[in-house]
Amino acid sequence: MKIAILSRNANLYSTRRLAEAAEKRGHKVQVLDHLKCDIIIEQNNPLIYYKGEKITDIDAIIPRVGASVTFYGSAVVRQFEMMNVFTTTNSQAIVRSRDKLRSLQLLARAGVGLPKTAFTNYSKEEKNLVEVVGGAPLVIKLLEGTQGLGVVLAETKKAAQSVIEAFHNLKARVIVQEFIKEAKAADIRAFVVNGEVVGAMKRQGKEGEFRSNLHRGGSATVVKLSRAEKSAALKATEAMGLHIAGVDMLQSSRGPLILEVNSSPGLEGIEKATDIDVADRIIEFVETRQPKAKVTRKKVTH
Ligand SMILES: Nc1ncnc2c1ncn2[C@@H]1O[C@H](COP(=O)(O)OP(=O)(O)OP(=O)(O)O)[C@@H](O)[C@H]1O
Ligand SMILES: [Mg+2]
Repeated sequence: MKIAILSRNANLYSTRRLAEAAEKRGHKVQVLDHLKCDIIIEQNNPLIYYKGEKITDIDAIIPRVGASVTFYGSAVVRQFEMMNVFTTTNSQAIVRSRDKLRSLQLLARAGVGLPKTAFTNYSKEEKNLVEVVGGAPLVIKLLEGTQGLGVVLAETKKAAQSVIEAFHNLKARVIVQEFIKEAKAADIRAFVVNGEVVGAMKRQGKEGEFRSNLHRGGSATVVKLSRAEKSAALKATEAMGLHIAGVDMLQSSRGPLILEVNSSPGLEGIEKATDIDVADRIIEFVETRQPKAKVTRKKVTH
């Protein structure tokens, strides 16, 4: 097969590993920077030009679209879809996963466990919001935050109200979430490929830090998931209309609670923590060109 990896940089760990794994399995690989793809729209003739040359013979794409270029990256993926090229992640699912609020709404409907979460657009409602999620301590998150930045633990009601007020004054949109204390500053990342959890790791926040992000000094170790955790990861992936996903969850006294489903999960952390060849599993999925769990329009409509 001829496989294109959509990535800004061929030297990134995930891109490199996917290219290696594809070549090892006998495929031709091309890394395309999605920001250098031109989309040509014409009646019944969808085309992409890459650095001035027409792209014609790609059998499948693996999108690795970063959060900062979601708009253009997903448009390029959509154009490949118009050209009937198989994609491991469809364009709508990428866009859907980048909206934290929309994602939580979909996950809630699918019946997966979630920390109780509230959102308001009305800045006079701080007090109510705090009550709705069960009072302090609670977690306040910037909707646009990533890598643990913009995630704040408010220990008291007063602190919570002040932080929400401050964010609102800055015109930043936030969600307010029940604090899951028993997670003990750790979360779990389950890596899902085509209806299966292929690897999982536990990330532990460094001393004195409730956020487990590796970017905030956390450390990762391999972990064996319970049946409930596996099932939550698969259900969440399906609810988002994804076939490859990094599902983050907290271990709570009422079972696994999903924090987020990542549509472009990195391979470095999970491969190093688990010693599993995740890239190979992804290429194996590409070879089938057919997702196992068919995500129908009926299941995901938003
Ligand atoms: N409700 C919560 N209760 C306890 N700990 C939490 C809660 N929400 C988040 N955390 C901790 O904070 C970390 C960062 O939160 P989260 O993953 O929601 O934001 P982020 O990493 O900045 O965003 P993203 O995952 O979208 O890049 C989590 O990995 C987890 O360890
Ligand atoms: Mg996170």
